[in-house]
Amino acid sequence: MTQDEMKKAAGWAALEYVTKGSIVGVGTGSTVNHFIDALETMKEQIKGAVSSSVASTERLEKIGIPVFDANEVASLDIYVDGADEINPTNDMIKGGGAALTREKIVAAIAEKFICIIDDTKKVDVLGQFPLPVEVIPMARSYVARELVKLGGDPCYREGCVTDNGNMILDVHNLQITDAKQLEDTINGIAGVVTVGLFANRGADVVLEGTPNGVVKS
Ligand code: 5RP
Repeated sequence: MTQDEMKKAAGWAALEYVTKGSIVGVGTGSTVNHFIDALETMKEQIKGAVSSSVASTERLEKIGIPVFDANEVASLDIYVDGADEINPTNDMIKGGGAALTREKIVAAIAEKFICIIDDTKKVDVLGQFPLPVEVIPMARSYVARELVKLGGDPCYREGCVTDNGNMILDVHNLQITDAKQLEDTINGIAGVVTVGLFANRGADVVLEGTPNGVVKS
């Protein structure tokens, strides 16, 4: 089974969490694109979606699923999104697709975070995947210096402008043993919009595509 087939299996498995008449929180990335394909089969039965990126919004609207502004929605039953890494306590690194800030906002609005992954995303310790940090452009150098003090090796993501008009620093060489604390610390640096650690609000359900089918945890 290819990695994309495992992503597809996880994306389609998330359909069972979608309730009729609801507005669905939709993440960003290649695994979520499979979920959006699956959601098309239910599009007459849902009110619409709140999206975490311009890319997902375009994809949803193309297949006729109405996309609501997050400000119009008081709560969401579920938020379905992928991850770049996830540890055994369901803390995640996200933001490989640069959508981390909007992803964190939609995740915060939702009651339940359904994480859809292939089997390459599970790790014991977060940090092998470089940790994305969305930064206000004028703070780039200052934030980078602060990240070095935390033991990381920040790299500017060339050519990347987020949907919010900001830039991304990818922090290499971190061994993240206390994800909640690191999330708070990095979010506290002036000029950081958000860090791609999802620990204070981790995943509630993980659907992992594997060669033997989808494993739920
Ligand atoms: C985008 C994300 C994605 O969820 C993450 O990068 C996983 O992507 P994919 O499903 O393509 O492997 O956080 O900002």
